[in-house]
Amino acid sequence: MTNQDLLALADTYGTPFYVFDLDALADRTRRIQTFFSGTASICYAMKANPFLVGPLKPQIERFEVCSQGEFHICERMGIPRKKIVLSGVSKTEEELMEVLEGGGAGIYTAESIRHLILLEQCGERKSAVLPVLLRVTSGNQFGMDRETVKDIVKRRKEYPFLHIIGLQYYSGTQKKKPEKVADEYRNFLRFAGELRDELGFEAKELEFGPGFPVPYFAGERWPEEEEWLNALKAAIEEEPAPVKVTLEMGRFLAAECGTYLTSVADQKRNEGENYLILDGGIHHVNYYGQMMAMKRPEMEFLPRKEGGSPETMWNLCGSLCTVSDVLVKEVPLPGPEIGDRIAFRKIGAYSVTEGIYLFLSRDLPKVLFFSEKEGPVLARDSLPTNVWNSPNEFNERKDRKQWKS
Ligand SMILES: Cc1ncc(COP(=O)(O)O)c(C=O)c1O
Repeated sequence: MTNQDLLALADTYGTPFYVFDLDALADRTRRIQTFFSGTASICYAMKANPFLVGPLKPQIERFEVCSQGEFHICERMGIPRKKIVLSGVSKTEEELMEVLEGGGAGIYTAESIRHLILLEQCGERKSAVLPVLLRVTSGNQFGMDRETVKDIVKRRKEYPFLHIIGLQYYSGTQKKKPEKVADEYRNFLRFAGELRDELGFEAKELEFGPGFPVPYFAGERWPEEEEWLNALKAAIEEEPAPVKVTLEMGRFLAAECGTYLTSVADQKRNEGENYLILDGGIHHVNYYGQMMAMKRPEMEFLPRKEGGSPETMWNLCGSLCTVSDVLVKEVPLPGPEIGDRIAFRKIGAYSVTEGIYLFLSRDLPKVLFFSEKEGPVLARDSLPTNVWNSPNEFNERKDRKQWKS
């Protein structure tokens, strides 16, 4: 997708919008899958960007789903049930029964003893044996500690409606060192070995979230992508255990395909500082690790006319009424004008869902897909949020004047 394509989208759809380059997404997914082929398969952690579930459907073997909302998105996108790993730290009986009534999921994770009991009860109600991964904690509110997992494994016969097929482990995102990820995997594998040696439990599946990072900011040094991939692959291949290894990935798959396009809505000079006001803002843009707008994410200035003006420093601010709505400070730009565009890159993961969208009751931005074959597709139009910020009673009233008087 070229900058010309991007500007054409801006003319057609207006800004701000996210656009996801589906060719880039498919290529990246294929590259990662090919790299791990024969070693591990890839599960897409859809929390990174639920809009990519549909486009990834033909390519991805599994989708990690962490809420009923995410589950409904998968249903809507026609994701086969067997591809769904129903995960998430909070599960209710109603939710589980809804999933089971409709045909169930491929795998369920248990994050606590309560989950385990709930899954057992729901399985019994449906007379179905549910395949379960026990989530091992990394020292936070997720999963269960190793002693608890061991205890469950020891007493696994007490759960006739559960088939404990293996373990899940994820310890956080945007990791810093490839070797650390590899060591975490080794440690995870060692624990599976303990369960085998001490309790005669053979895990059939290990689901591991490596938390691979995406380098977002100028001037930062990160290990090359190959180093991450090679380190983990080597660790998995060190011990060709008879288990299926699945790598849960969100950011690493999704970030690169996304661009956020926003336009200059105003410009001013206040007490010696230059400010651009953009039609988007921090409610739409969230780069992990950004600090007080001091770091410069990968971005591009797309002027409407090439001017050749000398560069001066600008603070890029959004449209929210808060002094913290600064996207980037001190960016050198050559004579920006109202209507010029600014593209923020690598926005495909998390920004689309992690923004503070309701603040100031501004509209949700449009979401576009783009591919060479299909061209642009409006995946979601901009949506008003103001209805969520006033009581239902008044939203339902067409005649707002009545309320005002
Ligand atoms: C269990 C689990 N797996 C995978 C992921 C995806 O993480 P990342 O975006 O770092 O790849 C997350 C993110 O929170 C997660 O909680």
